[in-house]
Amino acid sequence: MREATRVIDRMRTDPPPRGSRITAPDGRKQVLYEVLASGSGAVLAVFMWGHMFFVASILLGTRTFDTIAQWMEHVYVAQPTVFIVLALFVLHAVLAGRKVPAQLRERKRAFALASDLKQSTRRWTGGDALTRPHAESWIWIWQVRSALLIGILGSFHILLMGLDIFSDLFGRMEGIEAVSSMARTRAGLVWLYLPLLIAVEFHASVGLLRLAVKWGPGNRLSRRTLWRIEHVIFWSFIGLGLLVLVVLAGWIDPPLAFLTGDGP
Ligand code: HEM
Repeated sequence: MREATRVIDRMRTDPPPRGSRITAPDGRKQVLYEVLASGSGAVLAVFMWGHMFFVASILLGTRTFDTIAQWMEHVYVAQPTVFIVLALFVLHAVLAGRKVPAQLRERKRAFALASDLKQSTRRWTGGDALTRPHAESWIWIWQVRSALLIGILGSFHILLMGLDIFSDLFGRMEGIEAVSSMARTRAGLVWLYLPLLIAVEFHASVGLLRLAVKWGPGNRLSRRTLWRIEHVIFWSFIGLGLLVLVVLAGWIDPPLAFLTGDGP
């Protein structure tokens, strides 16, 4: 029998080892951390949807993009958003990251167990192949990897946006404008935004699936249905994001500009 299968069987049957019992205050603290980690993740996922529709306005042409960006700065939505998103980003990283093993040795063991489970044919929860725990152990490892990428590339992007909104370092004025967004994307940021886009969409759609499993809708919907919803969300946002990226990079003209009579 594979080692991972033995470990899971032992966890299900053996009493917890001495000294590992959780006290009530400890339990309450962990629930609070879990609620905050889940809540901040959900708010960031919703923010990313709003963000996608904002940057997708470039598909309607540069004037439409500028009108929306200037309106968001005029009504003071853009400025506080930079600080709120940065704070949520840090809170989510600290709280969700507390479950990632700190020692390299432990991380290697988690990785080995997940690989072991991935090859296991054993089913714990019925006949649905996707309900086998190995698929989700493996996905969890990719959640951690994508989070590391988002941590590095996302922090850079948020700081760049802060500089753009609060200074005239880029472009002709303070604030976001299509001409400077497109110039820096074309100049090379496209190669930073591409992995960031893939990592963010993967992390957000899988994260929402895990929230559904943990906090509710997962009780009413089967795992297979939840995975289908996750796939639809992931591929829709990847498709839209890639289209936005090639327009920002100047590789194609805004495809919907004819609707607004707006040129590239
Ligand atoms: C803090 C507020 C944010 C603002 C104001 C903002 C604004 C923008 C703007 C104006 C662009 C167009 C490219 C450019 O100007 O360089 C862009 C692109 C992008 N942003 Fe953000 N952003 C924010 C936060 C984030 C966060 C937290 C992430 C993910 C961690 C993110 C991921 C992306 C990606 C992947 C693109 C490429 C466009 C695509 O293909 O969808 N942004 N953002």
